[in-house]
Amino acid sequence: MKILAIDTSCDDTSVAISEGDKILSNIISSQIELHKKWGGVVPILAKRNHEERIDAVISEALKRAKIQIEQVDIIAVTYGPGLSPALEVGVSKAKELAVKYSKKLIAVNHMVGHIYANFAKNSKGTAYNQGLFESSPFPVLALLISGGHTEIILMEEHMKFEKVGKTLDDSVGEAFDKVSNMLNWGYPGGPVVEKFAEQGDPEKFDLPIPMKNSGDLNFSYSGLKTAVLRVAKEIGVAGPSKFEQNQKIETKSEELKEGDYKPSFSKKPIYKLEKQDALDLAASFQKVAAEQLVIKMKAAVKKYQPRAVLMGGGVVNNILIKTRLRSELKKLGTNLYHPQNKRLLTDNAGMIAIAAYYMSLREEYSDPELLDRKPRLSL
Ligand code: KG4
Ligand code: ZN
Repeated sequence: MKILAIDTSCDDTSVAISEGDKILSNIISSQIELHKKWGGVVPILAKRNHEERIDAVISEALKRAKIQIEQVDIIAVTYGPGLSPALEVGVSKAKELAVKYSKKLIAVNHMVGHIYANFAKNSKGTAYNQGLFESSPFPVLALLISGGHTEIILMEEHMKFEKVGKTLDDSVGEAFDKVSNMLNWGYPGGPVVEKFAEQGDPEKFDLPIPMKNSGDLNFSYSGLKTAVLRVAKEIGVAGPSKFEQNQKIETKSEELKEGDYKPSFSKKPIYKLEKQDALDLAASFQKVAAEQLVIKMKAAVKKYQPRAVLMGGGVVNNILIKTRLRSELKKLGTNLYHPQNKRLLTDNAGMIAIAAYYMSLREEYSDPELLDRKPRLSL
């Protein structure tokens, strides 16, 4: 069963081809360079760029998989959550292809995709996470940590999801992005904060671990962000915000029409700190962000006794977060899995193809006439 999957939920145009749960190709066309100068993703630019690239990315995915579109059985697409104008491009393309070539259509929740990236196999049929296939991994706890989500999901079986923990405000990825903006390190914030944190002293600033004693499995990151801001204000010099700096670019830019510019980055001032102070602040922030995840996941594992813990979302790239969780969960006798292939870690259509494969086993198809994007879709 061949699946062509599309994901245009945010700032990557991605198309993948799979044969069941074996990924044959997974093309990702990143827009990071386009959004960088704005300090965050500009939805309308994302939409235009998806529209410009989608056909070429589809052709490339088919070419790499060495198949023709006629040989595809199922078209799968992310229909939420994500940026509405961006989602729209993928959803309308998937509907168009499903109707034109008389294919079945599967609408996939992007967060389900992040979970199912863990169940991917390579083109030869070898599972990246072999342990998940040796015996039933259920019950599973999935920790979803991305730019828009920080959630713990309980799964008793495939495609059954119960949210048992969530953030009450910012997501962990958002906190990395905001701290990066605050220190003028650019977008996306996660990788750059991680890089600078490596050179800093994580014990230098005593930042609070939010929700430490809340007695539930929920998260909060806005207090931590405010604590970082307080330190930056105390020891740094405030300069104009990225927003103010970019006003100049905005008036010059030809790619933006009046009225369609919606910056998603902070209008708060940025702070200039002594280099070592900034590195220490990044390290102290990252340590606390990781510890909150560790505390909550340990509590979740004790409560639900899962056979496996899966991680998904862009923040899984963070090495400190991965290693801290792995060592702490190991002490509780629980194995931690995450997507092993770099492409499956960030936003990509390969994970959407894998989720669609498991949905196809349950015949969870959509009607192209009725399918619409759902920007706020939840698990
Ligand atoms: O899953 P993803 O690619 O997109 C969404 O669905 O949101 O996640 C993007 C998020 C961003 O907030 C980015 O800053 C964060 O993942 N991220 C990281 C790292 N790499 C990406 N956060 C911490 N450390 C990293 N190395
Ligand atoms: Zn994502």
